[in-house]
Amino acid sequence: MRRGFFITLEGPEGSGKSTQAKRLAAALRRPQPRHRRRRGFRVVEVRDPGTTSLGARLRVVLLHECGHVSSMAEALLFIAGRVQLVEERIRPALQRGAVVVCDRFHDSTMTYQGDAGGVPVRWLDEVGRRAIGGLMPDVTIVLDLSPQAGLSRVRGAKDRMERKTLAFHRRVRRGYRRIARAEPHRVVIVNATQSAHKIHHQIMEIVWHH
Ligand code: TMP
Repeated sequence: MRRGFFITLEGPEGSGKSTQAKRLAAALRRPQPRHRRRRGFRVVEVRDPGTTSLGARLRVVLLHECGHVSSMAEALLFIAGRVQLVEERIRPALQRGAVVVCDRFHDSTMTYQGDAGGVPVRWLDEVGRRAIGGLMPDVTIVLDLSPQAGLSRVRGAKDRMERKTLAFHRRVRRGYRRIARAEPHRVVIVNATQSAHKIHHQIMEIVWHH
């Protein structure tokens, strides 16, 4: 029995989604008098890859500790990390009635390893969804901006994905647009070049109206 609400944030490098995920979670925890809610929601924040012990290790390996990896191997490892995240954290939280705010999810595998990496997207969609028992977000916010703008915001040493070519990152962006067209009820694109404040308000509106 599923009672909670599942939100994911997606987008290219430097889109500010981690900041927005934190702001969204904090806002949902507060009372919402405008919406006649005197108590905030119970919110669980997770990130993919990460959060679980396996996910955190896979994150280090995939982003920092390996050289070239085939897109297929990458896809299966990201999916493995997600399976653990869903079973250990997301599904139990939803069953307790919490709101789950997740930084990246299945759509990242679709765009990075599928659209950009060349793994056939239909196959990847099928395998990726089956692996997590079909648990897809109620709503997904895609923070959209050009790869040039996004990558120029990345501070410090670049990780393995950030070092991929501009053409790769363009395909990631096109992938998100493809998914938004295919699933307009779940996936909403937000212009990530606006101020963080404006973006936050748009995300709140989208989440409330879902
Ligand atoms: P980030 O969460 O800090 O943005 O870093 C995660 C990186 O991993 C980012 O470059 C996107 C990439 N990634 C994939 O390539 N496939 C996936 O399935 C996921 C979840 C992330």
